[in-house]
Amino acid sequence: MDDAWLERFEPRTPGDEPAYARIADAIASAIADGALVAGERLPTHRALAQRLGVAVPTVSRGYQAAADRGLIVSTIGRGTFVAGIPNLRDEHERSRWLDMAVNAPARGPHEPAMRVALEKLSRLPDLQAELGYAADIGSARHRSLAGDWLGRRGVDASPDDIAITHGGQHALLVAFAATAHAREAVATEALTYPGARSAAQALGLGLAPITIDDEGLDPEAFTSWCRSAGTPRVLYTTPFAHNPTARTQSAQRRRELVDVARRYDVTIIEDDVFGMLDDTGTPPLAAMAPERTLHLTSFSKALTPGLRCGILTGPSPIMQRVGPLIRATIFNAAPLQTAITMAWVQDGTADRLVDWQRIQARQRRERALGVLGDCPAVRSLTATALHAWVQLAAPWTPAEAIAAAASVDVLIGPTSHFAVGAPIDERGVRLCLGNAPSVQALGAALERLDTSWRRPFWASGT
Ligand SMILES: Cc1ncc(COP(=O)(O)O)c(C=O)c1O
Repeated sequence: MDDAWLERFEPRTPGDEPAYARIADAIASAIADGALVAGERLPTHRALAQRLGVAVPTVSRGYQAAADRGLIVSTIGRGTFVAGIPNLRDEHERSRWLDMAVNAPARGPHEPAMRVALEKLSRLPDLQAELGYAADIGSARHRSLAGDWLGRRGVDASPDDIAITHGGQHALLVAFAATAHAREAVATEALTYPGARSAAQALGLGLAPITIDDEGLDPEAFTSWCRSAGTPRVLYTTPFAHNPTARTQSAQRRRELVDVARRYDVTIIEDDVFGMLDDTGTPPLAAMAPERTLHLTSFSKALTPGLRCGILTGPSPIMQRVGPLIRATIFNAAPLQTAITMAWVQDGTADRLVDWQRIQARQRRERALGVLGDCPAVRSLTATALHAWVQLAAPWTPAEAIAAAASVDVLIGPTSHFAVGAPIDERGVRLCLGNAPSVQALGAALERLDTSWRRPFWASGT
């Protein structure tokens, strides 16, 4: 640990604060200018006493004063840690934690499957097609295979109206650019996927927050937005396993939203990146309103994100604008990666990996419900697909729950990253369940979380 911050502990001069208060002040000032970051471990009481030349009880009192100010958290047997929101950018810090901030699928049979795929590819007599530039929307063969795959999800698309993209995020950027006008707002769930916020920002689009309830987007709130919004009206929504709240719109809710969209001529961008994991049989919006829905999905969550393979489809007039946008952003999705993905679609590997991921997702959410189900800090837990949304019981706030998690080496992303527009008064945090190396490792991290959230409440901030 870099302990330069200790120099802030000023030597005693007459009239000074007592030593314990100066310890708390040194911690506060080091946090204020970033010399100490959230999640960082502080020296033991004894080690700090030795370094500062004070008695051990003085350090204990200093740490207690800092904890009372919400600056640090202590866990018996684990040590003392800086509270606050973890610094997501610090890779070094991240490596020793379980990262439950990244929404990644579970990893298992993927590596051997990829070795087999690469070996098969190396034996193909002709690789020329995968080595050159492709059509912006992808080759006819890949689009036709993508169309078959979408058909199984209930999305009926002609290969002419399909584009292969560089993953779901790219599909989203292109979908925004193809449908919305700069300075107009796109309606979306009041909490949304942060990548949608970045895409909108990059394109100069606003996002208009629509209230959500247990089934996601509220049709009444959507209707009032439609009444006041300028044209073109665009809705971006995630009906299955909404990110971050893990809520899924029922068939009835989807019908209501489609009715409103038809009444006010709204183009829908349906984010279905988790859809390959859906086994409920509820039809996607693209099947209910194909005339106005751009449907985007990707193989990142069901297979593996490294493929960076996404699919965008929708009404022909919009899809005609998509090719030039793909050309402008990436020219074309890498044919080699698309070839591997489509080979997996063709030879059944994709089905096998999807089945495996569904089983993992089920086991992981059962474990989350089992461990956190009766945690007093948790008011409700919505678990679908690869992430779960934890509604916190008052007086816990997201920042406090995240800082307590950091003290037990669990990284949770800030809830503010999901907020559209003004900061919302949302007492919830998202837990990504897929990234733990195993169900057992996830269980252990959840148990640590449970312990940290069972502690008597402590408030953060000075
Ligand atoms: C709702 C949502 N849409 C799109 C994406 C981006 O998908 P991809 O990783 O394929 O770019 C994600 C990734 O987390 C997501 O959660």
